[in-house]
Parts: sequence; C-alpha cells; structure tokens
Amino acid sequence: MTDEICIKRCIELANKACGKTYPNPLVGSVIVHNGKIIGEGYHKMAGEPHAEINAINSVKNPELLKDSTIYVSLEPCSHFGKTPPCANKIIEIGFKKVVIGTLDSHDKVNGKGKKLIENAGIEVISGILDEECKELNKRFFTFHQKKRPFIVLKWAESGDGFMDKNFKPFQIGNPLTKQFVHQLRSEEHAILVGTNTALHDNPSLTTREIVGRNPVRILIDFDLKIPRDFNIYNDQAETLVFNSLKESDEGKFKFIKINRENFLENLMKKLHEQQIQSVLVEGGRYTLQQFINSEIWDEAIIIKDENLYLGNGTHAPDFPAKSYKTEIFRNNIVKFYKNY
Ligand SMILES: NC(=O)c1ccc[n+]([C@@H]2O[C@H](COP(=O)([O-])OP(=O)(O)OC[C@H]3O[C@@H](n4cnc5c(N)ncnc54)[C@H](OP(=O)(O)O)[C@@H]3O)[C@@H](O)[C@H]2O)c1
Ligand SMILES: [Zn+2]
Repeated sequence: MTDEICIKRCIELANKACGKTYPNPLVGSVIVHNGKIIGEGYHKMAGEPHAEINAINSVKNPELLKDSTIYVSLEPCSHFGKTPPCANKIIEIGFKKVVIGTLDSHDKVNGKGKKLIENAGIEVISGILDEECKELNKRFFTFHQKKRPFIVLKWAESGDGFMDKNFKPFQIGNPLTKQFVHQLRSEEHAILVGTNTALHDNPSLTTREIVGRNPVRILIDFDLKIPRDFNIYNDQAETLVFNSLKESDEGKFKFIKINRENFLENLMKKLHEQQIQSVLVEGGRYTLQQFINSEIWDEAIIIKDENLYLGNGTHAPDFPAKSYKTEIFRNNIVKFYKNY
C-alpha cells in the first residue's frame, strides 16, 4: 500500500462531510499497520472530534497504534480549539510515522503541528498528493489566504442565451440538473441572489431535492424592497441581508449595512467577517456580471439547453472563459470553469 493510495483514501473519507464542517476544513485519516488499514475516520462537523481522533477511536486493538503509521490529508492541529490538539494525541500515542497530505496554511497551525510531532522524535512526511489535498479544501484555503469566500457562479441559459422568458421566471434546467444544483447548495457555505431575482422568482434557496444542509442565504437588497412574507425570509435558513438602511440582528436574519460604492470589495470583507467560506452566486445577470467583471470568482457552472429558444428576456452574462469539463444531463449541457 503506497502513501498515495492511503492519502487518496483520506481525501475520499474527508469528502463525505463536504458542506458540513464549516468553518472547519474537510479532513480524512487512515491508520495502517503492517500494510493493512486498521482504522479510518473523518471530521464530520465543527465541534465534533477531528479526523485523526475518529480514526484512532475506530481501531479495534489499540495496542497496534504505536507500531502504526497515521495518514492525514491535512496537517494535524496544534492549538486548543473546541477539542484538544491532534498533534499532542499523536505524540502521546507514539505512532511510528505520520504522513501528511498538505500543510495547513491557517495562522493557528502553519507548520506548527508538523514541527511539534517531529520534535517528539516521530518521523513525519508531508506533501503527498499535495495538489489534491489543497483542492479538497479549496474553500478553506481561499478563505484564509485571500480573506474572502470561495466564489462559485452558477446560472442556466437557453440556446439563444436568455436566463428567463420575457423577464418572467422560466425553468431551463431539467429534474436531473435541479438535483445537481441542490447538491451544490448543500456543499457551499452560502448562496447569494440579487434583488430582482428575489423579487421575480421568489426563491427559497434551500436544499430540497436531496438530503443536505441549507446554505446561509445572502440577499442584496439596498432599499429593502423584498417583502417579509417572501420565501427568502422563511425560517428554514439563516439569512444575511445586505442593504443601505439598517444594521440589526433579528434571530435568523441579520441586516448588514453596505454602500453601493466599491460594493463587491466591501461585500467580500463583510462576508469574511461573517466567516462565510464559500458562496454560490445564483444570479441574476446583473449580480453575476459584477463578479465576472471584477474577476472575483473561482469556479463557474453554466447549465444550457441548446434546443431551447426563449426569444426575449434577461440576457445571460457575458462570459468569455473556456470550460475545462462538460457533462450531459439529458437535454442539459453543464459546463464547468475554473479561475485558479
Ligand atoms: N436562469 C438562471 O439561472 C437565473 C438565475 C437567477 C435569475 N434569473 C432571472 O434573472 C432575472 C433577474 O436578473 P437581473 O439581472 O435583472 O437581476 P439581479 O442580478 O437579480 O438583481 C439586480 C438588482 O440587484 C441590485 N443590485 C445587485 N448588486 C448591486 C450592486 N452592486 N449595486 C447596486 N445594485 C445592485 C440592483 O437593484 P436595485 O437597483 O433595485 O437596488 C439591481 O438592479 C430574473 O427575472 C430571473 O428570473 C435567472
Ligand atoms: Zn485536530
């Protein structure tokens, strides 16, 4: 069993909690004794044990631990958070070896976990499937390094490039893509829409087509035009309302004041303050185009029905990027873009 195979398994395990660990990263861990995996674990939710601890606790015969190698996709933590540091636990057990996927650039860890373990005389290797482990935590790393959330743009358009019909909502995606979009909603930390989309479509922005958590809703509504009985104000998810009129905390609803000048830059700062690690931007055109023009986006997903002609309505954003992947969902083509 190679180090790569074991770290790959760590990534697979970590991904099981995708969308559920905010503000913590996704982490998986396996324990290998004599070439055999004897324990596995992953971090399931903030406040719950870290991956390494779950892997350690899953081993039936704890006697074997000191003769084992522990693999972990992200550097073990060295600070006291909601749980004690994993580096200390690894030292206390006295593992034979520690293999780390990628180091944790978060200020609180940043090489300290690795050093601590090495200083205790345990062999440590790091940088195994480094790229893949960074990709696994693209949201977490972007948030800490760029001091803004990871931004995913998403919209659906017709063959002739419209997002709605005569400025009225029109369902372009089919049931398969709808399910896929709800999967995205469950994985990203938050979901954002502009004023017109909230007004015209009255979306609830919750995860319904699959079992998963609801993202934090973000509404841009400068003049607080959206009536309080609209779906976006139902009690099913936390909601941040960026506006120019009031700053107030009303239980699940937080009103945050923001200026129209330098809007996107300020929004990124405020979302960072709110600890929002990623945002799925669902439209409409005006809102999406701002992110595109400012080059503030990391991924984009465009759903297209090539055979649908709507003739008139809101134009899809101007988006000159080149896709790196295409998937077919029956009559919908889904194109994927990366900006990193
Ligand atoms: N096919 C799809 O995937 C999809 C997705 C979403 C929406 N849609 C469709 O798109 C249509 C809405 O698109 P849209 O482009 O008209 O609207 P939008 O992007 O939803 O909202 C635009 C409005 O939001 C406010 N706003 C947002 N950012 C702002 C900023 N930085 N500065 C100032 N104001 C800002 C402004 O309203 P104020 O000027 O009033 O403040 C602006 O007119 C809807 O009919 C909907 O059906 C389609
Ligand atoms: Zn830890």
